[in-house]
Amino acid sequence: MIFVTGGAGFIGSNFVLEWLKQRHAEPVLVIDKLTYAGNRDNLNSCNGEIGFKFVHGDICDYESSLSLLNEYQPRAVLHFAAESHVDRSVHGPRDFIWTNVLGTFELLEAVRRYWSSLGNRDSFRFLHVSTDEVYGSLGPNDSPFSETTPYAPNSPYAASKAGSDHVVRAYHHTYGLPTLAVNCSNNYGPYQFPEKLIPLMILNAIEGKALPVYGDGLNVRDWLFVSDHCAAIRRVLQAGRIGETYNVGARSERSNIDVVRSICRILDNLLPKRSGCYGDQIEFVKDRPGHDRRYAIDPSKIERELGWTPSESFETGLHRTVCWYLENMGWVNGVRDGRYRDWVKANYDHRGS
Ligand code: NAD
Ligand code: DAU
Repeated sequence: MIFVTGGAGFIGSNFVLEWLKQRHAEPVLVIDKLTYAGNRDNLNSCNGEIGFKFVHGDICDYESSLSLLNEYQPRAVLHFAAESHVDRSVHGPRDFIWTNVLGTFELLEAVRRYWSSLGNRDSFRFLHVSTDEVYGSLGPNDSPFSETTPYAPNSPYAASKAGSDHVVRAYHHTYGLPTLAVNCSNNYGPYQFPEKLIPLMILNAIEGKALPVYGDGLNVRDWLFVSDHCAAIRRVLQAGRIGETYNVGARSERSNIDVVRSICRILDNLLPKRSGCYGDQIEFVKDRPGHDRRYAIDPSKIERELGWTPSESFETGLHRTVCWYLENMGWVNGVRDGRYRDWVKANYDHRGS
């Protein structure tokens, strides 16, 4: 079987749902703390499946991880669990250092102990899911990030992910743990918590609220549909070279204002307003502190070595995503509890327009 940490979050739950749809899928055990970003209901369709088990647990808990590893004897641990929202890391970095750095360390310690006891240690894999934000910010004419771009994290979130990447690397080089890592660009798609740009804009738009674009709206992100990321992770797990890192992206750079305008255009077609258009709700607001200007991924290593390429274009993926949110307002209302409203107040009230 395989272990998936953070499997109740956005990318983790998409990964588990898609994994279990494969023919002859190996069983999955999900370990998730169910923070505000984790939602057990994302995995409801797996309930009762023989190949699925959910454990409400914390990766910072070494003893609990070790006992699960010894009991279930997985052949791989896929590590998605993290605090993932940059704005939250600006407001409160502690949880980020705690989970992303110390949690990854505690998990690795448990994995190292378990792995050392295995008869066939070479066939085990620890796959670490990381981000392009560890490379810092690009200028308009800089080449996209490659696997050899020096680390230069700028937010507490990015620094905590960079720290976790370094610990994973050290466990391979020092102890020989068979690790793999992916550093991916911005994901979007079903089940993304509505604090992130795309779901936040879809929901604010249909609820008649302002669409808060930070700064001048010209920051650039490189967008990847979540299923394409999941496919890349499956491929790296299957054929990635031990100790290597693979950058994952779809060569799909867009400025934030272009993304928001695209969402507005899709909604103008799907759900026309009585008067005016959704673009009228756009407001430019105070910028994120330390806001990275541009991210872009060079995915040529994973394309060349593993034959992975994305299947979804940004236009089709965005359309699918808007439709998913419109059709899943029950899910949306379930995840937007009092804590969500407090967050929106804390992050947006002081920004003005
Ligand atoms: P998310 O915030 O939606 O989900 C994170 C999950 O981790 C949640 O289910 C949460 O409950 C769980 N979790 C948090 N702390 C935990 C702990 N201490 N123990 C166990 N579980 C815990 O995040 P996401 O967007 O799905 O990102 C998943 C991974 O992919 C992260 O490592 C993130 O850094 C990375 N990543 C995300 C993106 C993106 O665009 N979303 C891009 C590249 C890489
Ligand atoms: O690049 C990969 C990273 O992408 C992941 O590692 C992170 O986990 C993920 O959250 C994401 O980080 P970003 O900061 O790029 O994503 P976010 O959706 O928060 O913001 C995308 C861009 O949109 C960014 O330039 C900030 C801007 N933005 C965001 C929000 C929430 C706005 O203009 N307004 C907003 O209200």
